[in-house]
Formats: sequence, structure tokens, C-alpha cells
Amino acid sequence: MDMENIMPERYAPVLYCETISSTNTVLKEMAYNGAAAGTILTAAEQTGGRGRVGRRFESPKKGIYLSLLLRPETDAEFIQSLTPAAAVAVCRAVNAVCGIDAQIKWPNDLLLDGRKICGILTESSTDRAGHRYVVVGIGLNVNTAEEDFPQELRDTAGSLFTAIGRETEIKPMLLRMIDELDCMYASWEEDCFSQLEEYRRRCVTPLHEADVISAYERRRVFVLGVADDYSLLVRNGEGEMEKITFGEVSIRT
Ligand code: BTN
Repeated sequence: MDMENIMPERYAPVLYCETISSTNTVLKEMAYNGAAAGTILTAAEQTGGRGRVGRRFESPKKGIYLSLLLRPETDAEFIQSLTPAAAVAVCRAVNAVCGIDAQIKWPNDLLLDGRKICGILTESSTDRAGHRYVVVGIGLNVNTAEEDFPQELRDTAGSLFTAIGRETEIKPMLLRMIDELDCMYASWEEDCFSQLEEYRRRCVTPLHEADVISAYERRRVFVLGVADDYSLLVRNGEGEMEKITFGEVSIRT
């Protein structure tokens, strides 16, 4: 697999390759073997893109698939806040390059016109030396057309192209995403919740009836808002308030 550093001026390498199994999987191997904090691995297409809860992430050419390696020194409990902060960073890049405002579906899907255009998978583990690392993997559908998605995703998946009706150049978008992610991480290191207000503004999940879906059950709730730690505040069927910290929440329309 040929990898080229496409941003030699950045503090850590941005490695690009044409085709890869999964940028998260390969960057995790590199992290295990001591790759530097800040290393980015990005590819034009993935043959085995991975999504949350063991799903596949469709990754045809026409998208941006990027993983960022971080080695945060904060307490483990704060690591989760990196994912919503990354969602905000991608929204900013989309706004800067395309002039449109993406919305966020809790916890970290980006939407345009109600269709998912971006997903984020954060994975953390320890390397060979016993140090913790985090890989934040982002898949953004850029020029993907409806027919590029498998049939079963065509009603729910979208891209920048399906939303704005014209193609976006991949390289400027990629570079802007990297800048926004670097900025986000610098402020995250100062304050893990520095992106919370923007996250709340962009998040469309509150004030809807929704189903909370776990491996064991599906429950109807009313979503009240996003809590101070990015978890979801809901009122359950018994009328009690609850905090949802992970899992799938499907808005009922
Ligand atoms: C989801 O929506 O379920 C998360 C999708 C995350 C996809 C990205 S693409 C880059 C990185 N490599 C992967 O295999 N997955 C993430």
C-alpha cells in the first residue's frame, strides 16, 4: 500500500492512499506500533469501511475517508466528547467550503435535507507501550450520487452533491476538514466541552418523539435536549427523565 504525506508542513503526517481496507483499522495498527499523535490517514476509497455497532460504511470513490490519531492526556471519561466535537468541526468545514449548514443527528451523524452525509467512528485502545490512543474516523459523502449508494440506503443517505446539486473538489474540502479538526482539538485540550453550544445549535434530535434502540429493546421516549456532557436528556414512557449516553436514537417522523 503506497502512502504519501500530502501535508509535509503540518505538525504530523497526513498520509494519503488510493484504496485501503479501512483507514481506522490501518491507523489503529500504526498507533499500536507507536505512530505520532496527530497522524492522519486518508483514502480515496475503502473496501471495508466500518461504521458504528459493527455496520459497514459504504465508501466509494467520491467521498472523504479520514482517520485522525490522538493521544489525549485527559481522564478516560472525557474521551467520548471528542466525537461530537469532531462532528462540529466537520460542519464548519462543510460550511466554509460549500456555504451550507449541516445539522447533527445525535450523537454524531451529519445531515443535509434530513439525509446522512457523514458518519464518525471513534475507537480507543492502548498501544504496544501501554499508552492510550484514540482514532477518530470520519466518512463524508462528497460527490456521491443517489445511484452510487446501495438500494437499501437510497432513502436515507445523501451527500454534499445530492444537497447542493454540484460537485465539490475533494482536496480543498479535505484540507479544510483537517484544519478544522486541528483547531477543534487544540480547543478541546483546553476545554472538552468548548464545542457544546455549537453542537446544541446544530443538533436536530431534541424536541422529537424518538425510539431508543439497543441490542435488547426499542423504547419510545421524548427527547428533551443535549446535556452538558453531550448525552441526550429524554423523558421515558414512565414520565421520568433519563440520560442516554450511547446507542442509536431514531427520530419518529
Ligand atoms: C457510522 O456512521 O456508523 C460511522 C461511520 C464512520 C466511517 C469512517 S470512514 C473513515 C473511517 N474508517 C472506517 O472504516 N470508518 C471510519
